[in-house]
Amino acid sequence: TKSIQIALDGPAAAGKSTIAKIVAEQLGYIYIDTGAMYRAITLKALNEGIDLSSNEEAGKLLADTEIDLQPSENGQLVFLDNKDVTEDIRSQHVTKAVSEMAAHESVRTQMVKLQQQLAEERGVVMDGRDIGTDVLPAAKLKVFMSATVEERARRRFEENKKRSIHTPIDELQAEIAKRDKMDSEREVSPLRQAEDAIFLDTTFLTIREAAAEILRLAEERL
Ligand code: C5P
Repeated sequence: TKSIQIALDGPAAAGKSTIAKIVAEQLGYIYIDTGAMYRAITLKALNEGIDLSSNEEAGKLLADTEIDLQPSENGQLVFLDNKDVTEDIRSQHVTKAVSEMAAHESVRTQMVKLQQQLAEERGVVMDGRDIGTDVLPAAKLKVFMSATVEERARRRFEENKKRSIHTPIDELQAEIAKRDKMDSEREVSPLRQAEDAIFLDTTFLTIREAAAEILRLAEERL
């Protein structure tokens, strides 16, 4: 059968990666979490004390960095200069800094190129903010997923509980709203629904229902 590219975009904590993982597995495609890549370079910048506000320093750092994604049983492992940082990139520290790093043109140009190479000539489900608009503009299926900010904060809260993280729900909601604002208002490829993307409101959908809807849309395009 034919393989297609599926672009899954939307604001923070909309459930994109959970759903992308399921869809990729069902179709036998690779799954690429582009947010994890921006998180990895942010972790390195924080560790090395790089000035996060400098486009030039951020770009230089990334040029000298190796980021690898590897499929694993629970989804995906993230390697930064050959070190497994899958857990470290999810810290609040990284989460709070990532949007500043991701706004730099020097960072995005390199990331987009790398992401396009990773997606070359195979079935892929890629999730992020600019996949339908910039990374894979020719993707056969583009979905823009969202849910109310209250619902997204609630989901993140439940997810954190399982990982023994106890950030209060209002704090999570404020962080998510702030990140959405920065990601939507930045100059270089802001978070935006592509013209040919299908909007999927997941506020009242379970993970299983949202994944089924995307699989149905994918099958129509195979
Ligand atoms: O998807 P996740 O929430 O892990 O993404 C973390 C951050 O990385 C986003 O808030 C955004 O600033 C940045 N990002 C981006 N473009 C992408 C994916 C993520 O700018 N394609």
